[in-house]
Formats: sequence, C-alpha cells, structure tokens
Amino acid sequence: MSIRQVIKDPEVKLMDIRVEKGRPEKFPCELLLLFSFESPEPLEGPLREVDLEWKGFISALIKQGDFKGELFECHLLHTQGSLPAHRVLLTGLGKKSEFDLEKWRGAASKAGQFIRNSGVKQFVFPIKKLEGRSEEELAESFVTGLFLGVYQFNEFKTLERDKIKEIGEVILLGEKDKEVKLIGDGLRTGQTISEAVTLARDLVNGPSNEVTPTLLAEKAKQIARDHGMEIQVLEVSEAEAMGMGAFVAVAKGSQEPGKFIVLEYNKGKGLDTIALVGKGITFDSGGISIKPSENMERMKDDMSGAAAVLATLQAVSGLQLPLHLVGIMPATENLPSGKAYKPGDILKTLSGQTVEVISTDAEGRLILSDGLTYSLRYQPKAIIDLATLTGACVVALGDFVIGLFGNDDLLLKRIEEASSKTGEKAWRLPLWDEYFEYLKSDAADFRNVGTRAAGAILGGVFLSKFVEKIPWVHLDIAGPASIDKERPYIPRGGTGVGVRLLIQLLRDWKG
Ligand code: BES
Ligand code: ZN
Ligand code: ZN
Repeated sequence: MSIRQVIKDPEVKLMDIRVEKGRPEKFPCELLLLFSFESPEPLEGPLREVDLEWKGFISALIKQGDFKGELFECHLLHTQGSLPAHRVLLTGLGKKSEFDLEKWRGAASKAGQFIRNSGVKQFVFPIKKLEGRSEEELAESFVTGLFLGVYQFNEFKTLERDKIKEIGEVILLGEKDKEVKLIGDGLRTGQTISEAVTLARDLVNGPSNEVTPTLLAEKAKQIARDHGMEIQVLEVSEAEAMGMGAFVAVAKGSQEPGKFIVLEYNKGKGLDTIALVGKGITFDSGGISIKPSENMERMKDDMSGAAAVLATLQAVSGLQLPLHLVGIMPATENLPSGKAYKPGDILKTLSGQTVEVISTDAEGRLILSDGLTYSLRYQPKAIIDLATLTGACVVALGDFVIGLFGNDDLLLKRIEEASSKTGEKAWRLPLWDEYFEYLKSDAADFRNVGTRAAGAILGGVFLSKFVEKIPWVHLDIAGPASIDKERPYIPRGGTGVGVRLLIQLLRDWKG
C-alpha cells in the first residue's frame, strides 16, 4: 500500500495552518496577503489599516492604476522595511456587487498558487467580516479554496523532487478574541472538508494498479478504525451467496478481487439514516464490450463515486454531524477475460429483478443496482448515489456539471441548495415513465442499455428501479470527476467532486 500510505506523500510536508491574534500592519511575516475589490476607494478593513501604516502606498498604487482589484489579479510588493511584513500580495476579488464565497475560494486559491510558485514559504492573512459574511464563513471558505487550489499529486514523481514547491505555514489573523475564536472554528471545518476532498482526489488520481478494490477496502478500514465507525467488507463469494448477481457478474472478469464495502457512522443511535452509494469501478475497460483504446487511461477515475462516499464519511465523522450515515461502495474492475460476463447474459440482481446485459460497458448501473438494493435494509430517509455513469452526461452538460436525477422534489431541492453553496454545479434531468420503454427486454425484466438517445437519463431510469419508494437522488459525475482544464481552485485531474456538496447537504440536514 504505497499511495501516501494511503494517501499522503511522506516526503512532502503538508501546509501547517493556524490562527493568531494580531493586527496585519504590525505582524512580522514573509508575506502579508490582502484581498481587494475592484476600485476599492475608500479602502476598508485590513487593506485600510495597512495602507495607513504604509503612508498611503497602496492607495497611491491603486490611483496610478497599477492594481485594479480585478478578479484573481495578483500584485506582489516588497515593503523594504516599511512594514513588519517583508512582502505584501494584493489579490483582486472583482466587483463588490458580484461578491460570493465561490469567488472568495477562487481568490484564496489563486493567491495560494501565486505565493507557492514564488517560492515563499509562509504567509499571513487577516480575516474581517465582509459583505454580510461572518469571520467563520470566510475562514472556512478561505481555507477550503487555499487547500484545494494548491493541491498537487506528486507521489509517483521521482525526478527533481527538490523542485516541488509547497507553502509551509499559513497564519490567519483575528483582531479580537471573539474573532480569533470564530476564525478558528471556520479553519477547523475548512480543514476537515479539504482533507476529505484531498483524499478523494488522491484516490482518483492514483493509478488503477495501486487503487484496487482491495486498497479502497483497506482505506475504508483505516478510516473506520481512526473514527470509530463500523465497517463490513464483503468478498465476491459472500456477495454471491447473498444474491448480488449484478455486482458479482462484473467482478468475476477480473483477477483483482472485488470488494463490497459498507462503512457506517453513528450506528444504532436512533438518528436519521442516510445512505450514500458510490460507484467503485477502479478501472473500466468496458469488459467484453471493450472501449476504444484512445483515452482509456482515464477510466481509472471510474471509482470517483466511491471515493466521494468514503471521503464524505471521513468528513462527517470529523465534523461529528448528528446523523446515521451508511456508505456503500461496490468496488471492482471491469475487464474482459475468459471468466467475464458477456452481452446477452441475464443477471439476477439482489432485488430479485433480472437484467439482460446488452453492453458490458454499462457496468456501473449493474453494481449500483445491488448497492441500492442493499441500502434499503437500513430503511434510510434518503439514498444518494454518485457515479461516473455515462459519457452521455458529459455530452449533455459538459465537464463542470453534475447530472442530477431523483424521485423526490424536496431531496432534489436540498441537493440544489447545497450545490449552489459549494459551487459544484448540478442540473436536473427528467426520469419520465416514457423513457422506461427503451429499457424493456424480451428476455428479462430490463436491459442494461437502451438507445443512444437520452443516454444519461436511461442510466438514471435504470437505477430508479432499485430504490422502491425511498427518496433518492442520482448524481452522474462522469463530467466533473476529473478535468483536463483547471478551474479556479480545482487543478487538473481528479477533482473530488461531490464531496463538498454531500457534506453541505448533511450539515444542513433537518429531519
Ligand atoms: N464509466 C463509463 C462512463 C464514462 C464515460 C465516464 C466517459 C466518464 C467518461 C460507463 O461505465 C460507461 O462506459 N457507460 C457507457 C454506457 C453505455 C454503454 C450505455 C457510455 O457512457 O458509453
Ligand atoms: Zn463502462
Ligand atoms: Zn464505468
């Protein structure tokens, strides 16, 4: 088990971040970070305090047009002894009227990347209430944007490791005791959330020869140990004995043993139960319906749903949310072999319903069908599944949007609310009865594939047959699970999408 034991690169020191009481214009440090809106006159907050101490240097700079405060603009200044800070970095927040926490997270990331790339090892950032946002909210979002923005996956790089740059220390500044306390609370929450997203990203970025179903199970066991959670890992033979014909069919084509992982937080405490089900295909070759080789290497990300579920459980436990959470992660490879399942095979799912396999590449819905049925035994208040389910969803919505499906308007609304808070965009698609026609089979209850038309929806329609009447949401994360072009606080590669959205939903959960 190498990937950062799993998972933290032992040679790279992680950024240390803490809060202190102090004033920005008086605080000695390598670099003082200040945020500014566009045309910020008159200056406010920390920017104003530092400007006064610096005899109007910053306001003069702004007047001359050398720093405009445009969104994510970065301007580095050397203080030449005029301030206790050696340097000041000004970072733009854009127009005040357009301010939101998504931009704040982006600015934290862009400033962090600028500082890291400049080789500066330490910086200080003063936090003061802003535009109706509390110190706590601002600290949480700053820490989240910063950690996620400076994320790097270097575990497999052995050359020129001395060139890897990392920020060593960050100090958040509060002026009064009350502010220090609020900032500290936000910092801890932000850190717990970023650690979870980092875990999910590491698992997605890790190659499939390392991130096997066995490794996912080991990681789940480690989290269970560290957080006092219940864990159960079913072997394929046990899943078979239970009747999980769909999960077993996918797993049997691979030499790498499949694992059906169930991680449970706050078991037996009489709290509301929520089930999270994540697709854990550690590599999707398509199986006998093999995929074209171009871009096939990307299919190591086909376990992003399971990674998000695992990471969410870790965070929810860290935040000690008063909920009973069950994380269900069917994990296996999807490979062709003499033992692999085949098109035309008919599988008996755990629900008792039968499925005719049309394409072995529509394996996600098969393993999820057994995962969803398994979740019903907990009589959950809600079931949420996450899966890199269909290429069609990427075609429909692009690589930054989650496909959102469900059978319950209230639950869908709650997801949309969480989504707008975390900036992980989700867009609703319908599951009308008419679509089910496409999935009818002559030989079995359903086929696992319909037409090319409405591909993302048909994946959702298929899954809907396995949740009975329980409020359920399906998140198709095929697009945003990993990306080729970076976003403000999401570097290229595995994104950990869904983790923050789920955590937000669960933090806001009310009966
Ligand atoms: N893992 C893929 C979906 C996928 C495709 C994710 C591209 C990310 C990027 C899934 O198992 C799959 O192969 N789905 C098929 C379904 C089809 C056979 C109905 C697809 O999308 O082509
Ligand atoms: Zn597939
Ligand atoms: Zn897949």
